[in-house]
Amino acid sequence: MSTLKEKLLSVVAEPITTGKNKITVVGVGQVGMACAFSILTNNVSNEVVLIDVMADKLKGEMMDLQHGSSFLNNARINASTDYAATANSSLCVITAGARQREGETRLDLVQRNTDIFKGIIPQLVKFSPNAILLVVSNPVDILTYVAWKLSGFPKNRVIGSGTNLDSARFRFLLSQKLNVAPTSCHGWIIGEHGDTSVPVWSGVNVAGVRLRDLDENVGTEKDSENFGDIHKQVVQSAYKVIQLKGYTSWAIGLSISNLASAILRNSGQVHAVSTMCNGLHGISEEVFLSVPCVLGESGVTCIVQQKLTQKEQDLLKKSAVAMHDVQTGLKF
Ligand SMILES: NC(=O)c1ccc[n+]([C@@H]2O[C@H](COP(=O)([O-])OP(=O)(O)OC[C@H]3O[C@@H](n4cnc5c(N)ncnc54)[C@H](O)[C@@H]3O)[C@@H](O)[C@H]2O)c1
Repeated sequence: MSTLKEKLLSVVAEPITTGKNKITVVGVGQVGMACAFSILTNNVSNEVVLIDVMADKLKGEMMDLQHGSSFLNNARINASTDYAATANSSLCVITAGARQREGETRLDLVQRNTDIFKGIIPQLVKFSPNAILLVVSNPVDILTYVAWKLSGFPKNRVIGSGTNLDSARFRFLLSQKLNVAPTSCHGWIIGEHGDTSVPVWSGVNVAGVRLRDLDENVGTEKDSENFGDIHKQVVQSAYKVIQLKGYTSWAIGLSISNLASAILRNSGQVHAVSTMCNGLHGISEEVFLSVPCVLGESGVTCIVQQKLTQKEQDLLKKSAVAMHDVQTGLKF
């Protein structure tokens, strides 16, 4: 007796269940869900697996997304507390962990989230030994180092979301001041995602016209138009949003979906992400900091060697020393 399914469908071949662009998102908090939503609605992947330790919340989030499937491009959405469901992921986005509380710095979170990573990274590696790890949890640069150490992956396959978001915030604020679209305001924030990030004012431009060529003081304390305040606002952005709504989510979700797209589509796009910086710009420590990176299927394929001023290099080196000091105190 045939089932209704058998009467309807004449099977030609077994479907391939694991696509090339499978993405695992670990942590279904505000950030993880914003990442998953953005990845799905931007058609970056049609196979997303969610992982968390809170089984009910996880199931609820999965069902809620699945109910939207008719409005997505045939996305397969799965969730589990068991990492076997993540097998053969091309990209694993890690957002699990404690978030900053009001007034808490990103560095305050470090040992708590390192301990959480000890339970997560070996599981991801076991089931997806060829994946790229994209770390979002804070403090993101140090946790990217932690993920690199715990995974044993080559450095190109362990990336931190880094200052991709800071650079986006910078371009937005610049666009407000110049009344030009953010996509046409070019500027890079490098270094630490957070309090010691470095704005590369020497390269800020619109249509190739460098603001520094129009006013050599732009971004400095001597600048009468206070462009330097834009970077201060970037640094304060997360604290301000957390004070107002309790967490940040939408912008980081969009930023991650943009990075995921660059990686999975082997696009060669350049983004400011956290990568191993030992030997770059005079940095002698094994630290992950953000610099412009070419992204593709193998992760970070190249680093763009920016011409930095002495001041920018000094700031970057100061970040590296601060990161390294925290790392040496970590208990693995
Ligand atoms: N890099 C960035 O630009 C950026 C931006 C925003 C937030 N963040 C960081 O992202 C992280 C998540 O923020 P959030 O607002 O989503 O927090 P949240 O508290 O809403 O969610 C965290 C989730 O992690 C889960 N979790 C905890 N331990 C786990 C484990 N061992 N395995 C699997 N899941 C686990 C929790 O159950 C929870 O669902 C924080 O560290 C936050 O600081 C980073």
